[in-house]
Order: sequence, then C-alpha cells, then structure tokens
Amino acid sequence: MKLLVLEEVAKNYGKGDALVPALRNISFSVERGECIAIMGRSGSGKSTLLNILGTVDEPTDGHYYVNDKDITTYSERERAALRNRMFGFVVQDFALIPYQTVLQNVMIPLEYASYSRKKRIEMAKNILTQVGLQEKIDTYPSKLSGGQQQRVAIARAIVNNAEVILCDEPTGALDYTTAQEIMDIFLKLNQEGKTIIIVTHDREIANKCSRIIEIKDGRNTTTAHPDSQTDTLPSQGS
Ligand SMILES: Nc1ncnc2c1ncn2[C@@H]1O[C@H](COP(=O)(O)OP(=O)(O)O)[C@@H](O)[C@H]1O
Ligand SMILES: [Mg+2]
Repeated sequence: MKLLVLEEVAKNYGKGDALVPALRNISFSVERGECIAIMGRSGSGKSTLLNILGTVDEPTDGHYYVNDKDITTYSERERAALRNRMFGFVVQDFALIPYQTVLQNVMIPLEYASYSRKKRIEMAKNILTQVGLQEKIDTYPSKLSGGQQQRVAIARAIVNNAEVILCDEPTGALDYTTAQEIMDIFLKLNQEGKTIIIVTHDREIANKCSRIIEIKDGRNTTTAHPDSQTDTLPSQGS
C-alpha cells in the first residue's frame, strides 16, 4: 500500500480573469520511509503542493489518496483529524509563538490530545532532548539562534508522532553550516522511519534525499537521485 498518491491533481486560485493555475496534472506517489526533495522556481507551485499533501489545502481537480483512502471526499473535520495524526510541518521562518517558551511551543500540538498535563510535558521534553535542546526548555524563541529555533519547530512537528514531515524551505533562512545540521536531523528522523518531504532551492540539500521531484509551471517531472536505487517514476511530461 502506497502512503501518499496524487492522481492528476490540479489547483487553481481565483476565478475568471483572475484565475491562477498553480498546479496542473500532478501525479506521483510517496512510499513509507522515503525522503523526497521538491525543487522548482519561485511561483512554480511547491508550497501549494506541500499544502495539498498536508491536507491544509484541497485540490481543484484530481484525487489525493492517503493510505488508499481518497481524502478528497473527506469533510473538513475528517481532514483536520487526519492532519493532526499524520503530518508535521516545518517552515522557513520557524513560525514559533514568541511569548511562549520552547517547552510551551512544543506542547501546542498536544493541546487537543487526551494525555494528562504531566504526560504532555514529558513527551515534549523527550522530543526536545532528541533535537539537543534539553537545556533550553524554559527559554523564549527570541533568545535562540536560527538553527535552535528550527530545532524547536522540528520538535513541535514530531511531538504528536507524525508519520510524515512536510518542510517548506526549512534551511532557507539559515547559514550553510546550520543548514547542514538541520538536514542531518531530517536524515536521522528518516532513518528512524519518518517519511520526509522537503521543498528546497538548495541542490546540495536535495541531493541528500533519495528522490528529487522537479516542479515547473505547476507540472512535475520526477527524477531519481543519481546515486540512489529508488525507482524512477514515469515523467508526466508537459
Ligand atoms: N492564496 C493564493 N491566492 C492566489 N494565488 C496564489 C495563492 N497562493 C499561491 N498563489 C499563486 O500560485 C502560484 C504557485 O504559488 P506557490 O505554490 O506559492 O509557489 P512556490 O512555493 O513554488 O513559490 C503562484 O503563481 C502564486 O502567485
Ligand atoms: Mg513557496
């Protein structure tokens, strides 16, 4: 069973003269445990694609299957439940809440879970230890470096046990060395079984993934990593 399957997905923004076709006829699938890079120019539809994969946004046309279920038939409530259970998001500017401590930020996704407060604190502390921030739990985001803030965001993305981590230019605001460190965390999480999808402009980061999907004008061409054993999916052409 494939984890994620996009079938001839299109996404338009606006209507009539103002219609913007952001994605056209996108088809590809993601196996459990893959690490995939999505590349393409600014405006090519990468963020739109990531939002559809994460069920934040819905396709205008086509189908999206998660574990063989066509989620284009789901209600907003069903999609939200699926999203909370399966997907974690990491973005370029970290999106941390400035007036909450590191621990409080990481506990946010657990707010709606049925765990006791004690259990939620324990879960958040465990994850923060995994990303090397156990000393910083009572610190506020503004007191942290960019790399440390991104580690907090990664901890928040995985604290709920998300199976898939969706990253939108996660190293775009970081210097070279810090970007490599953050990528190493994603690779470690991938080795531990997480499925990772990373939008990036950085060819070096993309080459560390097992597969690269190129988006051009809202269409995809899929290429295998030159060193990898991953099968090449048929190109959709354009
Ligand atoms: N909310 C929106 N409303 C209207 N147009 C949008 C919206 N979001 C994105 N777009 C347009 O859709 C296209 C793809 O955008 P996006 O997915 O953000 O590309 P990328 O992440 O590759 O830069 C662009 O032309 C962009 O201007
Ligand atoms: Mg974008």
